[in-house]
Amino acid sequence: MKQQVSEKEESRLEKLARKNEEALLGGGQDKIDAQHKKGKLTARERIHLLLDEGTFEELGKFVTHRSTEFGLEKQKYLGDGVVTGYGKVNGRLVYVFSQDFTVFGGSLSETFAEKICKIMDLAMENGAPVIGLNDSGGARIQEGVLSLAGYADIFYRNTLASGVVPQISAILGPCAGGAVYSPAITDFIMMVRNTSYMFVTGPNVVKTVTHEEVTSEELGGADTHAAKSGVTHFAFDNEVECIRNIRNLLAYMPQNCEEQAPRLVFDGDRAAMVPELDGIIPENPNQPYDMKEVIRLVCDGDSFMEVHEQYGENIIVGFARLDGRSIGIVANQPSVLAGVLDIKASVKGARFVRFCDAFNIPLLVFEDVPGFLPGTDQEWNGIITNGAKLLYAFCEATVPRITVITRKAYGGAYDVMNSKHIGADMNYAWPTAEIAVMGAKGAAEIIFRKEIVSAEDPAAMLLEKEAEYNRKFANPYRAANRGFIDEIILPSETRKKLISAFEMLENKARTSPRKKHGNLPL
Ligand code: HXC
Repeated sequence: MKQQVSEKEESRLEKLARKNEEALLGGGQDKIDAQHKKGKLTARERIHLLLDEGTFEELGKFVTHRSTEFGLEKQKYLGDGVVTGYGKVNGRLVYVFSQDFTVFGGSLSETFAEKICKIMDLAMENGAPVIGLNDSGGARIQEGVLSLAGYADIFYRNTLASGVVPQISAILGPCAGGAVYSPAITDFIMMVRNTSYMFVTGPNVVKTVTHEEVTSEELGGADTHAAKSGVTHFAFDNEVECIRNIRNLLAYMPQNCEEQAPRLVFDGDRAAMVPELDGIIPENPNQPYDMKEVIRLVCDGDSFMEVHEQYGENIIVGFARLDGRSIGIVANQPSVLAGVLDIKASVKGARFVRFCDAFNIPLLVFEDVPGFLPGTDQEWNGIITNGAKLLYAFCEATVPRITVITRKAYGGAYDVMNSKHIGADMNYAWPTAEIAVMGAKGAAEIIFRKEIVSAEDPAAMLLEKEAEYNRKFANPYRAANRGFIDEIILPSETRKKLISAFEMLENKARTSPRKKHGNLPL
């Protein structure tokens, strides 16, 4: 009798082991080999790379689809094309879904969507990030509207989760049609060169409709979206690098909007001066310098992680650490288009500011901006509405906010770039700062027009008036007289001042007026 029970138990255990093995194979060894041949990892290999060793707990491993159309009832794979569950990244909980291209091309069925929704719901209830690893042929065509409904269920959750828990999307294969809109709603997108692409309509439809001949990579590859459209925030050469960077990125973020980002221990000298900064601004105010060097010198070690590196390069955004504290940096880049604000820079900056504000990450702004970019292209494409996005984003941000004006702070751009007037907490200026309505030449031509025209030597008069304007306004003292600048500091003491100020602002509590939501100028 005892012998019989044990045999029965053993067969049940064996059955579970067999099913587990079957689930691990996804669409089968042939499909896994084909995936590897394309230079892609499998859904499970990706999860393995993403999570801390041994922390993955899978949910819904034995879920199968319910479809009976087109002979689908004879083709069932355990898990139905998406691996879902939870685990840890750097010891912190995350939820993850990883689309399995080996099963029906990773296409999304009703049950596939239910699995994703289940972990998104758990993420919301338990306050932890959601990481989506996307590699899919889109809606499972055999399931028709059920698949579309599944997508919509996910879009809805993406939107509800926005600003509550961080959401990161890696695109590791095709992502086409309406499927692109789930990653688009998430906070950050990462792509891999030559193996991933995103587009609403693919090259064939484009050719039919607009007669343009374009490859998938040109139309929607990683570099296209990193540099041209700004759809992706990061582009990497391979999946391993991409997944490693998801881990890096998460380290700067809190688990949810109620928490603070983790702080690392900084064991260097908190009061150290940085003498290299004193010589960084060129004598000639029209000569560029690299603001990334300023960021590098001010922040802890090599902690700067740039976001949107190839897009709108006249503004720099990214995460860094200061005395171990996670901060978001927004900085004009004088070495690209003189650091001017244009449509791309404004939208890029605004999106980043809003992410940081939503997740309690203090903001640090380095300012050297000659103004907004003039021209019909900018005006006709809406620099007014788009520039207003950056202004709006700063105005509504309630996290600790500090600005350092390194050189130019001209015109409306002075107001927009986290000025005191729109809610910045601490505003510093270097002695090289020029805070004025416009550059000296333009200003002199307008306010001294009569004197210049009637002068014996108009060119000499212009130079003289330019110099007069410069003496009066091309400095930080007027603004400091009015308290718009809290302190004029040596560049070399910037790091020390910022560490102290962010510490002082640590418990800042500012509330916004009660409203349903604002109406961001979209
Ligand atoms: C069902 C699909 C599928 C899909 C691929 N497969 N896409 N099955 N629904 N959407 C299956 C293929 O039949 C094939 O099955 C296997 O997945 C691998 O596909 P291949 O074509 O062999 O792979 P590859 O050559 O790498 O090409 C990948 C691809 C291509 C570019 C993604 O499969 C493709 O174009 N698929 C259709 C894409 C599409 O039109 N999707 C709908 C978009 S509209 P076998 O058994 O032969 O291995 C959409 C709407 C979303 O998504 C709406 C949200 C609002």
